[in-house]
Amino acid sequence: MVSANRWSWLENSGSSPGAHCVRYNRVEDFNSQVVKANSRIAEMKQQLDMTRLPRHVAIIMDGNGRWAEQRGLPRVSGHRYAIEAIRKTVDLAHELGIPYLTLFAFSTENVARPPEEVSEIFLLFEETLEREVPELNEKDVRLLVSGELEMLPQHLERKFKDAIELTKANSGMVLNLCVMYSGRQEMVRAARAVAEEVAAGRMKPEQIDERRLRDFFYHPELPDPDLLIRTSGERRISNFCLWQLAYSEFVFTPTLWPGFSETDLLQALLEFQQRERRFGRVR
Ligand code: FPP
Repeated sequence: MVSANRWSWLENSGSSPGAHCVRYNRVEDFNSQVVKANSRIAEMKQQLDMTRLPRHVAIIMDGNGRWAEQRGLPRVSGHRYAIEAIRKTVDLAHELGIPYLTLFAFSTENVARPPEEVSEIFLLFEETLEREVPELNEKDVRLLVSGELEMLPQHLERKFKDAIELTKANSGMVLNLCVMYSGRQEMVRAARAVAEEVAAGRMKPEQIDERRLRDFFYHPELPDPDLLIRTSGERRISNFCLWQLAYSEFVFTPTLWPGFSETDLLQALLEFQQRERRFGRVR
């Protein structure tokens, strides 16, 4: 639900929403917008078929930079506001009982961004883990990471590993963060591991099949995403879960990620429920 409000930690970042989001002239205007948004959310939830929800939703969270630029803010503010959108998404997915949520947080290609932006994003990861992991843990959410954690600064790698360890027994929902992730690299790693198995005589080349290759992915135990959402109007998969998205349904929305709200997620779920999935077969 939209609540007024959890922005307090942003106030210290020089990015207070009062200054840069929609400007409300009166508290009553703000409250009436909250009431409207909440009734729209309730209405959309009613339209959902709870027996046909995707088991696994994956999201390419795009548009943070553009969101900030449109408001005359530094790009990093967009990344900071992105966290609130992540929180809303996790909360709603959890409430709906979606068991797996994968978020593309940082790609190996993102390392080539200006060093100041990369450092800001790493700092944001650190702060967010510190602030959010205890709450995720209380909500019984298990945190996983897909990607080359060893490529992160050591203290950040440690923080991710601690969060994974702390939440490893949780069974409420899996939140899989793709960090330092590349879909091609995931396949290269798996191919190398399989080659090592063969070279060591533990596997024969003819035994290599989809399941055996997949066993060497970061998290082979996760089902493939049923639904992929990409924000910001771009229609690409940008090296994200290349293997796992083979039969996923794609929903593209023009919303820039920091503006992604409960209604955007519900809209994507409703759109998913309109699709007929055939997996290459006839009906
Ligand atoms: C996409 O927008 C954003 C990124 C590639 C990096 C930032 C990621 C986060 C803020 C997520 C942090 C996640 C956690 C779990 C702490 P963009 O900058 O590519 O936007 P643009 O296309 O408008 O430039």
